[in-house]
Amino acid sequence: MSGVNEIRSAFLNYFAAEGHEIVPSSPLVPRNDPTLMFTNAGMVQFKNVFTGVEKRPYQRATTSQKCVRAGGKHNDLDNVGYTARHLTFFEMLGNFSFGDYFKERAIELAWNLITKDFGLKKDKLLVTIYHDDDEAARHWKKIAGFSDDRIIRIATSDNFWAMGDTGPCGPCSEIFIDRGEHIWGGPPGSPEEDGDRFLEFWNLVFMQFEQVTKEERQPLPRPSIDTGLGLERMACILQGVDSVFETDLFRHLIDATASALGTGPEEQTVASFRVIADHLRSSAFLISDGVLPSNEGRGYVLRRIMRRAMRHAQLLGARDPLMHRIVPALVREMGQAYPDLVRAEKLIEETLRLEETRFRKTLERGLSILDEKSSSLKKGDMFDGDTAFTLYDTYGFPLDLTQDALKSRGISVDQASFTDAMERQKAKARASWSGSGDTKTENYWFPLREKYGATEFLGYDTEISEGIVQTIIRGGPEAIELKAGESGEVVLNQTPFYAESGGQVGDTGWLKRTTDGEIVADVLMTHKQAGDLFIHNVRMKSGVLKVGDSVRLEVDHTRRSSIRANHSATHLLHEALRQVLGDHIAQRGSLVAPDRLRFDFVHQKPITAEELARIEDIANEVVLANDEVTTRLMAVDDARDAGARALFGEKYGDEVRVVTMGRNAREHGSNALGWSVELCGGTHVRRTGDIGLISVTGESAVASGVRRIEALTGNHARKHANDTMALARTAAGELRTTLDEMPARIAALMEDRKKLERDLAEARKRLAMGGGTSVGNGAAAGPAGVRQVGDVKLMARAVEGIEMKDLKSLADDGKKQLGSGVVAIVGVTADGKAGVVVGVTPDLTSRFSAVDLVKIASEALGGKGGGGRPDMAQAGGPDGAKADAALQAIENAMGGA
Ligand code: ALA
Repeated sequence: MSGVNEIRSAFLNYFAAEGHEIVPSSPLVPRNDPTLMFTNAGMVQFKNVFTGVEKRPYQRATTSQKCVRAGGKHNDLDNVGYTARHLTFFEMLGNFSFGDYFKERAIELAWNLITKDFGLKKDKLLVTIYHDDDEAARHWKKIAGFSDDRIIRIATSDNFWAMGDTGPCGPCSEIFIDRGEHIWGGPPGSPEEDGDRFLEFWNLVFMQFEQVTKEERQPLPRPSIDTGLGLERMACILQGVDSVFETDLFRHLIDATASALGTGPEEQTVASFRVIADHLRSSAFLISDGVLPSNEGRGYVLRRIMRRAMRHAQLLGARDPLMHRIVPALVREMGQAYPDLVRAEKLIEETLRLEETRFRKTLERGLSILDEKSSSLKKGDMFDGDTAFTLYDTYGFPLDLTQDALKSRGISVDQASFTDAMERQKAKARASWSGSGDTKTENYWFPLREKYGATEFLGYDTEISEGIVQTIIRGGPEAIELKAGESGEVVLNQTPFYAESGGQVGDTGWLKRTTDGEIVADVLMTHKQAGDLFIHNVRMKSGVLKVGDSVRLEVDHTRRSSIRANHSATHLLHEALRQVLGDHIAQRGSLVAPDRLRFDFVHQKPITAEELARIEDIANEVVLANDEVTTRLMAVDDARDAGARALFGEKYGDEVRVVTMGRNAREHGSNALGWSVELCGGTHVRRTGDIGLISVTGESAVASGVRRIEALTGNHARKHANDTMALARTAAGELRTTLDEMPARIAALMEDRKKLERDLAEARKRLAMGGGTSVGNGAAAGPAGVRQVGDVKLMARAVEGIEMKDLKSLADDGKKQLGSGVVAIVGVTADGKAGVVVGVTPDLTSRFSAVDLVKIASEALGGKGGGGRPDMAQAGGPDGAKADAALQAIENAMGGA
């Protein structure tokens, strides 16, 4: 039972049998504590449970927690490789009581496990307690039968455990084992305590307080227990080896390194093998928890760890990038206990390979400068800080890498002059902003960006996290607080809120109080300034928000989910467009909103309905395949070689995020990483199936040679389809037919209607010419409104319901009917306007001009003019009520002729 994997299971099962819930490890990037860089203990995920803010369905828990102690309060980076027990990444086994059992039972449980199950000899064990903790002393005496000299009282913070500057804390009791005289060192509290002979392996913390601020400490609602047993140290003890690096897990990693290098560890080189094994673990686990190398914050700690290992790989004579080649061995050792590691295997390998490939380009030159500049130095000397800065700035040597390289020779780095050089560099950068033209950015955001650093974005992995308010902007920068009802902008040290960019809209959500979850402010929008300063536009709901406050940030989950689906769908449509329309498709812009997406691209002609249907089909096939969506960091050129689509004209940094969807390799290009490959900083679904459905709703032109498609996804697409179906059903109901029959039914109805319209027009004309009103009170008018004006027959009619275009044919008919005479027809429209047509048979055109007569009628109708030929003319007028008067005017004019 002494393999690392077996010890882990034995511990968890022991506590499960004692009524503890086995809870999975939380991620290395803490979601619930903005003051911590990395999860550094098992209790971090339970912080709010201890303080009573959060409730869990259990009162006892046990975990095997991934921890990193590099950067931040607990930092072991410098020691790794040079001592037998320091690691940057380790697993902390723990048992927790949330107001359930306390000191006595905690001591009893620990004692039974180590002496019975793990079989440690009582006479090799001893403990420390906080100096005034008599209660703990009593329990140890009773349970372990220890005499006073085996219960060492320590008055320092070593025996008062705190997670960070704030948070739950309490006195603790540490269990040590004496590994024998052959190892140098003394018991805790003695001058030789730093030696490795007495090894601390289990810390029992009696959680009693919460450190609220630096000065204020409050009692916890109920005394609780938090313990941490270092798995690697326990393995070391149970396997009877002197160093954690000699345990089975590390031996396997070191063997894998040796076989990748073709040479094994020797006395001179063993430290390098150890550094590589440890740093591989921390790098791999950080990457699998969403940290990617960068030049600030967590990403920079990762980069420092990776580069430190890479220098050691170089020292060992590695000709090619080495780290990624040991990843399979790591996954073999630890993948079962941490399935996320298996899922992220490819990402880890690629990230390591990329970093090492790039770093190797400057590493050799940097090392030779380092050698040259330090050659005359001897033990105790200081290495010039300016050179250390050049190594940092030009050759990518983090300061601790330079320190590490000089450490074995007893040379330290002049940190003050390093910092000076860094400051000078910043001042130069500041000077170059002025003159960039964008005054608001210069005067306002850049100084804030410099003062507070980049906002760390956690939103690829989580929608909820805590953050510390760094500054508030209200009217101008650096406001102190925001009160209920006020609006302003808030910058926090870290955030899960996506800031508008790359077409994807910014997140909305809430800032909540960490203690009771009450909403402090609505986040109305998030945007970015000065590169990577995230600005949250907020409206205060309650209380006061101050600089320095910790708040819980919660992204509106439903909205973000829709945005994710729309963003991923945009990538699928992009590739589908390319497949259907051709390689010339280049993105010109996009909008990814929660309720819709649109995508603009270069294409010269409209897309046919058939093409559009194919594009939609192809994209939906990938949705239904439910393929994994993966994200990786790549060098820009490699990404382009792998067929990644990028926004034309966009500036990208050296390293880019690459989002890949679908398994089928692109039909051309052997480097293809997947079906769709794009450079993209946006947020995406985990699997394409999460998109649900893509429905293209429109296609249009936005500029010459630029087309736009619009689409909906998921529920929006489903609702759109449902609404359309409901409309169609209603229409079919109205038509008294089925959906299938509807098109034929509509065509038939349209045909009928055309015929009816024709028949109706005919009937109206006939009706108009056969009856209706006539002019001149009818006295002299004949049956069809024909009367004699002198020797000329005048057919004068006012008609309604006849289209204006039909008046002329009526007049023609009238002329035929008369044989010789004048026809005047006034048509009155439904809105009361009038049109008039006058026809004169050829024999009379020398006496009457249709043009003259129609003008007279038009005047009577309140109009002007009119036109035509002497035998047929027409005009209009606004006043249909004057139809009879118009006809009368014509008759009068003819009488006067
Ligand atoms: N939280 C305690 C520690 O990390 C157990 O040592």
